[in-house]
Amino acid sequence: MALLRLIYFLLLFGLCFAADPFANFDLELSYITVSPLGVPQQVIAVNGKFPGLGCKCVVFLGKDGVLGTNCPIPPKWNWTYQFQVKDQIGSFFYFPSLNFQRAAGGFGPFIITNRNIIPLPFNTPDGDIIIMIGDWYTRNHTALRTALDNGKDLGMPDGVLINGKGPYRYNTTLVPDGIDYETINVEPGKTYRIRVHNVGVSTCLNFRIQSHNLLLAETEGHYTMQQNYTSLDIYVGQSYSFLVTMDQNASSDYYMVASSRFVNQSLWQRVTGVGILHYSNSKGKASGPLPDPPNDAYDTSYAINQAMSIRQNGSASGARPNPQGSFHYGSINVTDTYVLRSMPPVVIDGKLRATFNGISFVNPDTPIRLADKFNVKGAYKLDFPSRPLTGPPRMDRSLINGTYKGFIEVILENNDTVVQSFHMDGYSFFVVGMAYGEWTENSRGTYDKWDAISRCTTQVVPGGWTAVLVSLDNVGAWNLRAENLDRWYLGQETYIRIINPDEDNTTEFAAPDNVLYCGALSNLQKYNNLTSATTAYLFSIIGHWTIEAVSSDADHVFGWHLDFILSFPVK
Ligand SMILES: *[C@@H]1O[C@H](CO)[C@@H](O)[C@H](O)[C@H]1NC(C)=O
Ligand SMILES: *[C@@H]1O[C@H](CO)[C@@H](O)[C@H](O)[C@H]1NC(C)=O
Ligand SMILES: *[C@@H]1O[C@H](CO)[C@@H](O)[C@H](O)[C@H]1NC(C)=O
Ligand SMILES: *[C@@H]1O[C@H](CO)[C@@H](O)[C@H](O)[C@H]1NC(C)=O
Ligand SMILES: *[C@@H]1O[C@H](CO)[C@@H](O)[C@H](O)[C@H]1NC(C)=O
Ligand SMILES: *[C@@H]1O[C@H](CO)[C@@H](O)[C@H](O)[C@H]1NC(C)=O
Ligand SMILES: *[C@@H]1O[C@H](CO)[C@@H](O)[C@H](O)[C@H]1NC(C)=O
Ligand SMILES: *[C@@H]1O[C@H](CO)[C@@H](O)[C@H](O)[C@H]1NC(C)=O
Ligand SMILES: *[C@@H]1O[C@H](CO)[C@@H](O)[C@H](O)[C@H]1NC(C)=O
Ligand SMILES: *[C@@H]1O[C@H](CO)[C@@H](O)[C@H](O)[C@H]1NC(C)=O
Ligand SMILES: *[C@@H]1O[C@H](CO)[C@@H](O)[C@H](O)[C@H]1NC(C)=O
Ligand SMILES: *[C@@H]1O[C@H](CO)[C@@H](O)[C@H](O)[C@H]1NC(C)=O
Repeated sequence: MALLRLIYFLLLFGLCFAADPFANFDLELSYITVSPLGVPQQVIAVNGKFPGLGCKCVVFLGKDGVLGTNCPIPPKWNWTYQFQVKDQIGSFFYFPSLNFQRAAGGFGPFIITNRNIIPLPFNTPDGDIIIMIGDWYTRNHTALRTALDNGKDLGMPDGVLINGKGPYRYNTTLVPDGIDYETINVEPGKTYRIRVHNVGVSTCLNFRIQSHNLLLAETEGHYTMQQNYTSLDIYVGQSYSFLVTMDQNASSDYYMVASSRFVNQSLWQRVTGVGILHYSNSKGKASGPLPDPPNDAYDTSYAINQAMSIRQNGSASGARPNPQGSFHYGSINVTDTYVLRSMPPVVIDGKLRATFNGISFVNPDTPIRLADKFNVKGAYKLDFPSRPLTGPPRMDRSLINGTYKGFIEVILENNDTVVQSFHMDGYSFFVVGMAYGEWTENSRGTYDKWDAISRCTTQVVPGGWTAVLVSLDNVGAWNLRAENLDRWYLGQETYIRIINPDEDNTTEFAAPDNVLYCGALSNLQKYNNLTSATTAYLFSIIGHWTIEAVSSDADHVFGWHLDFILSFPVK
């Protein structure tokens, strides 16, 4: 029996809602039992729903709760956080960031809509539809964690869920009877904005809707050049908006498919999510084979070409009434280059660990910014190497020493055997290049220096690399991590510590009054129950914020990224 915990947080609408600047969201977490794949299992529900319901806000904040930046809230504590929203619009999601909890649910959409004065770069859609896709195991998150702790691989997932539901029975051999599947009801002739998020553990999914074009319009807070796709690969942690027009004759329902990619399709057949798109005038059930996945057996560059075809619409307005592309990243000189190589998990000190440049990250006991404020010595080191280490891999608390206002190039190299995605908190980056093989200086010649998409989560193909450019204009300590939950859990992450040398308290907000203390600062915590915090929750929003040059508060950013930090005790 799980005890419930009422969670409460506030958004402080500083900029545009003079009348009522506060918006409150209560999230209540609980375990519920569901059987999405026919096997009863406990999942983490938000306000009784799995997946969680959405938060729809008008503008965005930029916050991330991860272990390196804040203390978890111990069980039975209430913690309210107020934060000022920033100018970010688009499709994001939240999820619990500790202890593998995301594999059990606790996630939900986080949608930021435009203020009315900012035009959309497309006609206002007739409806907004949220679709959360993800690989799924019938083992719970503690069992999955135990497998990793025991040095085992997670193995093939048991299926793919679409909005928390199992597959439509498109094949009686592959799908058992009695599975509840997702149905999206639509009206003929209408155009919907369909937001798709890959909230899964580690599987890249190809998303497609039978007989329908997906007009890609937005990804992770930036408008794209609108282009039609028959299917799109959505990597773990990524979010997209598609405009889909219901232009078919409804002779039957249509399949909506999310199938695994970069794996042996014939072995992974059951790792396929199938939902139904149902027109109000539909004449019958969907039947027959699923629409084909991309066939890239003979065209290995297919996935990369598709990724690089996603480009930013520089003339569309972002959150503020100026074009997104006013920042000409292509003509800025790079100040530092970091080559970050991920390797397959290895045993370090007797434990299975995953590394970045030969270092497997160990979370500081005292969160980074608290350690700075209170001069805690040795909480972390600023010695993360800018090139892969050649020595034996090690566990460490190494952070990247980022130069404030620097413009850095990060080459993510995937020497692992699985496709990965990487996310950076507090920022979005320009995805300028991606390829199989080894990155060399000559690879720079292939970079898109004009209209690369700016986003916060990018994929890196196995045996390949992805190059991103980042403008370090946001002071703080920002998590750079593998989104593949197993690799992240095993230590494939670090932080970029960005210090403003002329610190005058205008570039970073102070810690909130109710900040929690832990680690070396535990004695500052009034009621310190942290040692018993075995089931604490920390939530993270896959997102970032953008600082635009024209913004009056361009330098006024958050240093304390504390959000959705929730907890509940479990008996
Ligand atoms: C937690 O906060 C909520 C909202 O303020 C309140 O209703 C609830 O009683 C609080 N719970 C505890 C245990 O303090
Ligand atoms: C880019 O944005 C502009 C401005 O909103 C819009 O008119 C145009 O259609 C968009 N172009 C593409 C290719 O999406
Ligand atoms: C997870 O599954 C294990 C058995 O595999 C069980 O012992 C444990 O209680 C479960 N935990 C939760 C939180 O459901
Ligand atoms: C169902 O899937 C099985 C296993 O892949 C396959 O052999 C069979 O042909 C499929 N049935 C139909 C009707 O497509
Ligand atoms: C996308 O496809 C739809 C048909 O589904 C078509 O009407 C539209 O013109 C296409 N848009 C672009 C930009 O190719
Ligand atoms: C509806 O469209 C399908 C596929 O495009 C076509 O095969 C079918 O004949 C159409 N049915 C009607 C009644 O127009
Ligand atoms: C995929 O798996 C099948 C079944 O085990 C096997 O026959 C086939 O060779 C595999 N294909 C590849 C490309 O490894
Ligand atoms: C970039 O570097 C080049 C060569 O070092 C220099 O000539 C140029 O002025 C720099 N551009 C900017 C915008 O700083
Ligand atoms: C971090 O980089 C700055 C220059 O950007 C340098 O002054 C400082 O000494 C570095 N800190 C460490 C610990 O290396
Ligand atoms: C990893 O790197 C080694 C040495 O450069 C190379 O031989 C191997 O092919 C790489 N493997 C992958 C999966 O990238
Ligand atoms: C900046 O913050 C520190 C501690 O947070 C405080 O002691 C100092 O007075 C502040 N400086 C200014 C200029 O506000
Ligand atoms: C937290 O710790 C304090 C002091 O040890 C204790 O009095 C209190 O009951 C604890 N609260 C909870 C909710 O466990």
